[in-house]
Amino acid sequence: MNRSPIGIFDSGIGGLTVARAVFESLPDESIIYFGDTARLPYGPKSPETVRRYSLEILEWLLGQEVKAVVIACNTSTAHALQALQEHSPVPVIGVIEPGAQAAAAATRGGPVGVIGTAGTISSNAYARAILRARPGTVVEQRACPLLVPLVEEGWFEHPASVLIAREYLEPLRDAGVDTLVLGCTHYPLLKPLIQDVMGPNVRLIDSGEETAAEVEAALRSAGLEAPTGASPRHRFAVSDDEARFRLVGSRFIGDRLGRAEVVSVGRSSGASAVIK
Ligand code: DGL
Repeated sequence: MNRSPIGIFDSGIGGLTVARAVFESLPDESIIYFGDTARLPYGPKSPETVRRYSLEILEWLLGQEVKAVVIACNTSTAHALQALQEHSPVPVIGVIEPGAQAAAAATRGGPVGVIGTAGTISSNAYARAILRARPGTVVEQRACPLLVPLVEEGWFEHPASVLIAREYLEPLRDAGVDTLVLGCTHYPLLKPLIQDVMGPNVRLIDSGEETAAEVEAALRSAGLEAPTGASPRHRFAVSDDEARFRLVGSRFIGDRLGRAEVVSVGRSSGASAVIK
């Protein structure tokens, strides 16, 4: 079981930011990454639909004999974490709790800002988790749906991205937030731009990075860590458009991204691509 892979899934490509954080902190672990490229984006979809998709992906990952599942997608964590934990025989870790705890620890008294997809923000999952970790915190939330396609275009510093980021973020800056949670897989790629708009004194919290530490702790407490020096194998699978996954995905994790298999979730399938 300890040599089994960790399953990581997202609505598409953005979850590779979480996979990258896991590769970096857990270099002995093997990973199977699944991106639901046929059905993204999850951000504007109903909680029921996102939950159904997420349960189908869980089933596929369990068929690949994963030892733990990481929900890299914030929207899926917001709508489906509890359902997946109830259905899964292996630990399931989402990105919201680790990001919220890091924000609660980082704030100098608030307010704390949270940005994410429409689904993540309307679920209030981050606000609830921050308040659990630090009661009384004022949480300022803002959905920033246009940032996802800008990242997919690779427009990290494009003038259009600067304008849109200002439009979304200036109200949060003016509200005086001292900490801002990047509550979407794609936003870490816009960190320099977001920092620029928010100013140097605002702490940016990357939920993906925080989640890698949580995965490490979960594996340790379940006695599931891979042996030191194990030769990890990484596999990638998507539900559609493998070529675009590789093209855009390389912006997230560079040339470590190899070919991915196209699979149908809901039906077990062999998988994969191997990281060079
Ligand atoms: N992965 C999604 C998230 O983190 C962003 C992209 C989408 O809307 O599917 O919420």
